Amino acid sequence: MTIKIRPDWLQDVPETLLLPLYNRAVETVRTDAIIHDPRAVALVEQLDYDFTQFGSGHVAHAIRARVFDAWVRAFLAHQPDAVVVNLGAGLDTQFERVDNGHVQWYELDVPESIALWKRFFTETERHRTLAYSALDPAWIELIPNDRPVLFQAAGLLMYFTEAQVRQLISRLATRFADGFVQFDTISRWFSARSVAGKAAISKAYTLPAMPWGINVREMATLATWHPAIEVVAIQDYVRGYRHRWGAYGYAVLLPPIYSRTMGAMVQLRFRPA
Ligand SMILES: C[S@@+](CC[C@H](N)C(=O)[O-])C[C@H]1O[C@@H](n2cnc3c(N)ncnc32)[C@H](O)[C@@H]1O
Repeated sequence: MTIKIRPDWLQDVPETLLLPLYNRAVETVRTDAIIHDPRAVALVEQLDYDFTQFGSGHVAHAIRARVFDAWVRAFLAHQPDAVVVNLGAGLDTQFERVDNGHVQWYELDVPESIALWKRFFTETERHRTLAYSALDPAWIELIPNDRPVLFQAAGLLMYFTEAQVRQLISRLATRFADGFVQFDTISRWFSARSVAGKAAISKAYTLPAMPWGINVREMATLATWHPAIEVVAIQDYVRGYRHRWGAYGYAVLLPPIYSRTMGAMVQLRFRPA
């Protein structure tokens, strides 16, 4: 009999890592699955946690995983031995999904979340953990900057303030002359709801406050944060997947409504000086 791990030391934002993990597992067992993540299914089975509070699953995290995997694969296709840093990694199994046998990969998360990661995964020379807050500048010195680097933050930056996000991205743009950063965003409306304690995904579970919101139509302003920043891609959650969104899928036909309510996936590039 396998003894399950009860992640009862996780609270607040670290506990949210269980939500995208669950959603990737739920998606994987669908006949029309957008992503295939059998390791997520196995991890959910190995955790003693009430996943029923997350409801029947939400498609957004599967879409995010699929889009971000495609962007990482495209990056590695051009520079196979580059560096990828997964900020706020949680129990993301992306390394297993996209590993090309050459990439140097870092999973960065706060110590309590890295402690859970270490119960399931083993570090190797090419696959390392960094137990730091993304807001602590000390970890940045540990990342090689003699190779192209891609930073990813999936489900992380909205938990910071805009000033903190701006400072983090500016630090990366300053140190890494040849780099990309990709992350997801939520709208100002959804951010305000969460700060008011109203981002409930079921009667039993409400998301923690997410102070940073930005509307899709404002995304070009990210380029003003640092002279090296160029906005490379902005991808909404509905295009290509409208059949999975029910009536809400039509919101994407009304850009002002989409922009004010939904989030997006964004990739920025740091231009060499
Ligand atoms: C919604 S989860 C996303 C997990 C993962 N990226 C995924 O998509 O499965 C948010 C993650 O951010 C991490 N986190 C929270 N505060 C952080 C911080 N200051 N620095 C780095 N990671 C943080 C949490 O521990 C958690 O793993």
